Amino acid sequence: MNTVCVMGLGYIGLPTASVLATNGFQVLGVDVNPSVVDTVNQGNIHIEEPGLHTIVRAAIQSGNLRAATKPECCDVYIIAVPTPLTEDKRANMDYVRAATEEIVPLLKPGALIVLESTSPPGTCRDLLQPILAQSGLTLGKDLFLAHCPERVLPGRILKEFIANDRVVGGFDEESARRARDLYATFVEGDILLTGMTTAELVKVLENTYRDVNIALANETAILCEALQVDFAEVARLANRHPRVNVHMAGPGVGGHCISVDPWFLVEAFPEETRLIRTARARNDGMPAHVVKTIQELVAGVEAPKIAVLGLAFKGNVDDMRESPSARVIELLHAEGIALAAHDPYVKHSPIELHSLEDCFKDADCLAVLTDHNDYKYINPRQVAKLMRRRVLYDTRNILDHNDWCDAGFQVRVLGSGKC
Ligand SMILES: NC(=O)c1ccc[n+]([C@@H]2O[C@H](COP(=O)([O-])OP(=O)(O)OC[C@H]3O[C@@H](n4cnc5c(N)ncnc54)[C@H](O)[C@@H]3O)[C@@H](O)[C@H]2O)c1
Repeated sequence: MNTVCVMGLGYIGLPTASVLATNGFQVLGVDVNPSVVDTVNQGNIHIEEPGLHTIVRAAIQSGNLRAATKPECCDVYIIAVPTPLTEDKRANMDYVRAATEEIVPLLKPGALIVLESTSPPGTCRDLLQPILAQSGLTLGKDLFLAHCPERVLPGRILKEFIANDRVVGGFDEESARRARDLYATFVEGDILLTGMTTAELVKVLENTYRDVNIALANETAILCEALQVDFAEVARLANRHPRVNVHMAGPGVGGHCISVDPWFLVEAFPEETRLIRTARARNDGMPAHVVKTIQELVAGVEAPKIAVLGLAFKGNVDDMRESPSARVIELLHAEGIALAAHDPYVKHSPIELHSLEDCFKDADCLAVLTDHNDYKYINPRQVAKLMRRRVLYDTRNILDHNDWCDAGFQVRVLGSGKC
């Protein structure tokens, strides 16, 4: 197992390729996007992730990593391509299908194929197996297949990549063992072996568990607003129970995982997944709740302007996929409400980006939508001089509200009816 081909050089594939290359494997990183390939070959990165640039540069300089738009014959193929949702909330498996079909003519006896992409349970069995059979090789005899889902947290990918426990689901025991041996070269956590479909369900369940629990937190936050009590205090006190873990409330759930993966179960089992669907609806409804609150905060103001802080779906990353901020902005536009948005991490966005100063200038309400650390250091006294009205709406509960009150702001926090 000396040569590895990693299909897809995004948030998962690029760290995987680089870590394997710096651990002595000859790695070919493949991406259909030629500009990604050029960037990586120059030792640069096209996505923001702490530590990624350093390891990509080291991998390229070592001569163990190179990138191309087409795969070549290797011992191992790791598929780390997107598995997004279609408009009607179905798993779009086109990328996985295309990547698998592309490697079939290259397969030689003994090859190991690892699906890393988060996929609906049954994907390896029902989608990959029939495609791989076209190679003429026999799974379990001269071809090996495993699903090794990723559970890293954006912003901590490189650390968690190594430290986290991994679940490895094999077509058979030999496939699982071979995949384990590959991951054991860099994973310091436990590597737990199981079957392919079990591993697929484990990954989707993990994100569904989080989505449902966030929905419960969001629902409780809305109840807190009605009851005029503070969600943060309620959650903190409930979490002193030894078996309770109330999640954080917020403006919605975004990213490529938590807001997407539960639909894989809903699609496959529409009748049995009512709880999961309801949780999705609650979380998807949060941007509308945020906009309703903003409208209350600027009620009576002629032609109000909103300063929107944060476009990424979570703090300290540049990832805007499925971001609740984008939905909030869409709804504000639909209501004809003017806004200026800022994000310190997002560089390319369909939403126009402004400097902090331009955002604050003549704004009537400042809405914090992403928990970027940078926002904690904003000086409310300086902001007060720029805004037309001193109104803060903190949907992430990250600012020092006493400080903002002292600077003359009316402060509203999501999950708290009090101002
Ligand atoms: N981002 C995360 O934090 C995370 C965490 C756990 C699991 N996952 C899962 O990992 C998978 C990949 O996610 P990501 O965030 O890395 O996606 P990404 O969009 O960042 O990167 C995917 C890359 O694959 C490329 N690609 C598409 N089709 C291809 C093909 N046929 N051949 C080669 N390259 C191709 C794209 O151009 C893109 O650069 C998804 O299934 C996702 O759900 C992601």
